[in-house]
Amino acid sequence: MAARGQFSSRLGFLMAAAGSAVGLGNIWGFPTQTASNGGAAFVLVYLALAFLLAYPALMAELTIGRAKRANVVDALGSVSTGKTAHYVGATVGLAGVLTASLILSFYAILAGWMMSHMIEPIATLAGATETGTWLTTQGPGRDIIFTILFSILTMLIIVGGVRDGIEKWSTRLMPSLITILIALIIYVLMQPGAMDGLKLYLVPDFSGITNPDLLLSAMGQAFFSLSLGVGTMLIYGSYVSEKENLPRLGASLTLIDTGIAFTAGLLIIPAMFVAQEYGTTIYSEAGELAAGPGLIFAVLPSVFDGMGATGSFVAIAFFLLMSIAALTSSISMLEVPVSFVSEHFNIERKIATFATGTAILAFSILIALNFDTMFGFVADLATVYLEPLIGLAFCIFAGWLWNRNEAMKAIAAGHPDGESAWFVKVWPWYVKVVCPALIITMLFPTVQKLFS
Ligand code: PFF
Repeated sequence: MAARGQFSSRLGFLMAAAGSAVGLGNIWGFPTQTASNGGAAFVLVYLALAFLLAYPALMAELTIGRAKRANVVDALGSVSTGKTAHYVGATVGLAGVLTASLILSFYAILAGWMMSHMIEPIATLAGATETGTWLTTQGPGRDIIFTILFSILTMLIIVGGVRDGIEKWSTRLMPSLITILIALIIYVLMQPGAMDGLKLYLVPDFSGITNPDLLLSAMGQAFFSLSLGVGTMLIYGSYVSEKENLPRLGASLTLIDTGIAFTAGLLIIPAMFVAQEYGTTIYSEAGELAAGPGLIFAVLPSVFDGMGATGSFVAIAFFLLMSIAALTSSISMLEVPVSFVSEHFNIERKIATFATGTAILAFSILIALNFDTMFGFVADLATVYLEPLIGLAFCIFAGWLWNRNEAMKAIAAGHPDGESAWFVKVWPWYVKVVCPALIITMLFPTVQKLFS
């Protein structure tokens, strides 16, 4: 079997892992959830959950991955020596592979929308107005073509492997993403109306802060945003050197991810209020702020249209930003099944990539053909239920089934203070007791609702 890949450096890992974490969830999901859940109050709850729950859960995935140096199925299967634990671990790992594939299947459709909207201004500028309209009108034909294009891009990067695929492309794409994001923020904040949006985003309204739905949304958002609960971070952890200080890398990643989500809010929410200045309705009759596809594909394009000629370029930049964010995330999703199939069945990486990539693409096409019935169902199943549940299982494996000494050694490797570091001492019981308790408490109202 070929030698396992490894990231070339700390920066290589951070770019790849941030590429995975920073995606549509940050630039679209976070700002809109914030806007509809009490502005800065949601930001505070989210930040608390990101650092007190998602970060330690992320450490469970990274640590198991680095210690076991294997794909999610084999890694979880070998956490404990018992036979039952082996089968349970392998089953949870398979659930992770399935969930990563499900997420990719709907994410690729969304990413395809971003790509078609990126091309639209070019078509319109070139005088092909009919093509322009087709590019911005949702329908199975357009959706399937762009989902195929996006999936091919994802597969081409993943075929390249850890260094020449994931790391190389993440290192190129992430700085471009940050540059475009900052340039767009500066531009939008100079437009009329922007300050009203900034106020809504930054001034807290604490009235809904104890609402269980808000807590659940914030937890789901934190898991989705950090790519947790599917084995993505476990597999990326398996490519990190023993010499790296893992708790510090995890903390940097959490900071980058929350930082970019927060920064994206500075673009999206003010842009909505700029759109209002241009006469676009941004509130529903029930008084709720536009959040779903309406926001990205109706509200924001109206801002771009209102800007005249420059608007086309701003639109291209915005949808390029979204496409890049989606691509560096989708490659990390595909790596989960690809690493499993190629390692577990000893199949060449290229074949494993095209086989799994095509199977997932076939499922995406099925969703695109049955959009109204399937899309929401698959997205909710994977992100609201499966991700937190599998995340819970990762914490249980790390905290209860893994030999305590082995776990401590694994997390301490590469830490300058070794096993005497406070994080190394606290984390094993934290991930054993606090993380599962928090996840279960927050999932409880939903489970209760399902059965009532
Ligand atoms: N973190 C990505 C986002 O915020 O858009 C989504 C994601 C990527 C979820 C990778 C799960 C995953 F495995």
